[in-house]
Amino acid sequence: MTEIKAIGVVGGGQMGSGIAQLAATYGHQVWLIDSDSAALAKATDSISSSIQRLVSRNLLSREIGANALQRLKFSTDLKELHSADVIIEAILESEDVKRKLFVELDKIAKRSSILASNTSSIPITRLASATTRPEQVIGMHFMNPPPVMKLVEIVRGADTSNETFDAIKILAERLGKTVICSQDYSGFIVNRILMPMINEAFFALYTGVATKEDIDTGMKLGTNHPMGPLELADFIGLDVCLSIMKVLHSGLGDNKYAPCPLLVQYVDAGRLGRKRRIGVYDYRKLPEPDKS
Ligand code: NAI
Repeated sequence: MTEIKAIGVVGGGQMGSGIAQLAATYGHQVWLIDSDSAALAKATDSISSSIQRLVSRNLLSREIGANALQRLKFSTDLKELHSADVIIEAILESEDVKRKLFVELDKIAKRSSILASNTSSIPITRLASATTRPEQVIGMHFMNPPPVMKLVEIVRGADTSNETFDAIKILAERLGKTVICSQDYSGFIVNRILMPMINEAFFALYTGVATKEDIDTGMKLGTNHPMGPLELADFIGLDVCLSIMKVLHSGLGDNKYAPCPLLVQYVDAGRLGRKRRIGVYDYRKLPEPDKS
């Protein structure tokens, strides 16, 4: 089995920057690629401040933090990924855009490279079919924020080989994660259950059942969730939530997955959640969120 040393991450947004940070902290050489140089600059800042916070809280030694920063490289050029053992894609949740990227990665990556996707909901088999190596394509779905959350959901496409599955399972466990395995159906396990709940919370708000605060407090104190569903939607990104609902709706073909009109309207208005400082709630007067 290929030993995974060098890792490429494509997409330097909230997930990609967290995955890159995590992999570098655990000793991997990491290239983080984003097509947008402003997003890369933001990723560089957010990774170094996240590492500093972990060091100041004694959750990471100063030496490990400094070494992690040394192992990270940033670029807008996908070609830097030619020698990566695994490439983890974390760009926007659009099947068309992801398929185009997989076509490119298939050309650039060395023959033995595994191409993994952090997609929240898009079937892996469809991304794999854009490549000439479907047996080496797999879903590696981290939770937000990747350095903190303990779960990785691994999704096998129709042609994913046992060797690819084993290599990614070992990698996830070496990154300190617990692995669950899902069959390749829209939304997999976690978002199949979580997103309809978030969508229903939007319907409760939309139809005037309760205020946003009472919906969130109800689910926090009534069901012991650490965050309310609307607060969580803001944290995930309302655009990401909407994309996932659309994938569930079209992929599973049931009207119960139709996105709430209020969720659609917020996204249309650019109210994307914490990353835009406004979503269901208004964060413009609060300090930047802590993403250690
Ligand atoms: P984001 O919007 O924060 O970041 C996406 C990044 O991808 C942006 O920096 C953008 O410039 C870059 N990008 C877009 N197209 C690109 C391309 N063709 N080549 C290179 N870079 C490109 O999105 P986020 O939240 O990090 O999500 C990324 C992926 O992770 C999505 O598939 C999402 O469904 C998944 N995910 C998101 C979670 C969340 O809580 N936000 C949790 C788990 C998975």
